[in-house]
Amino acid sequence: MQKTLVLIKPDAFGKNHSGDIIKLYEDAGFKVVAAKVMRMTPELAAKHYVEHIGRPYYSALVEFMTSAPLMALVLAGDDVIKRVRELNGATNPAEASEGTVRKLYAEDKTKNAVHASDSEASAAREIPIFFSACEMFD
Ligand code: PPS
Repeated sequence: MQKTLVLIKPDAFGKNHSGDIIKLYEDAGFKVVAAKVMRMTPELAAKHYVEHIGRPYYSALVEFMTSAPLMALVLAGDDVIKRVRELNGATNPAEASEGTVRKLYAEDKTKNAVHASDSEASAAREIPIFFSACEMFD
């Protein structure tokens, strides 16, 4: 079964939208196979966002992601990587379609509610940063 990493970012987690967001994923047929509440450290952020180091938005991204707790999830299901990106909507909530997580819960390009792996290679790299095999149930 295909898996993807989702982070419910500090903005959405802090506003108690985790349950609403998880319901959207579950209603679409996906299963939560791992979950935890945690605070991202700068070291963890550098590992997770390694491809973005040096980009103009990198320090804003890390400052935001380390500012408060978040919820990390692994979701499983058919075509879950692509489908969850569709359910999340465009990175910039101003461009997100109606009914998507970011249209419903995101504020701007920084406080944009969720992260999800963008490919099978990203999911395979990102999931073990947050979860060990014994923390996943499927
Ligand atoms: S995407 O979805 O990966 O194509 O989006 P991309 O535009 O490449 O952005 C990659 C991640 O960087 C975040 N980002 C920002 N954070 C803070 N401030 C600004 N201005 C900004 N621009 C982009 C964006 O939310 C993506 O984070 P993740 O966690 O991967 O969604």
